Amino acid sequence: MDMQKVDAIIEKYNKDETALLAVLQDIQAEKNYLPREAMERVAEIMEVPFSRVSSLATFFSSFSLEPRGEHIVTICMGTACHVRGAPLVLKEVERELGIANGETTSDLKFTIETVNCVGACALGPLVIIDENYHGNISTSEVEEMLEQYQNPSKQEG
Ligand code: FES
Repeated sequence: MDMQKVDAIIEKYNKDETALLAVLQDIQAEKNYLPREAMERVAEIMEVPFSRVSSLATFFSSFSLEPRGEHIVTICMGTACHVRGAPLVLKEVERELGIANGETTSDLKFTIETVNCVGACALGPLVIIDENYHGNISTSEVEEMLEQYQNPSKQEG
């Protein structure tokens, strides 16, 4: 990660130790996860023990210590979605992106995750990308759905 960005974030909070959580949140917002070297930099500049930074980062589930993609592709594997073909949709998403569930593409564009029912069962099989619900998705629609995020310009028109 560009350490100048980390420095700028720390600077924004005047190196104030009480803003440690906010600093980590801003880094995560920038990178979609907390790189170890960024946490080391925070500890060094803010003069707090690294163990404090890392325990804060592991305590809050909203932080990720693993690289995460710009777009989170969440496939619902709840019962209703499952019986309507969610496993096949998941397989197709994995094939299209060349990664398995739980992994992130090497260009840090996509991460695949699964969830068990989000209460929109009528839309099954359901894929949620970022905040967008893609309901009643068939395997043949997966490629086009992902392309919208790969090439955002195709979303227009
Ligand atoms: S099972 Fe998928 S939304 Fe309920």
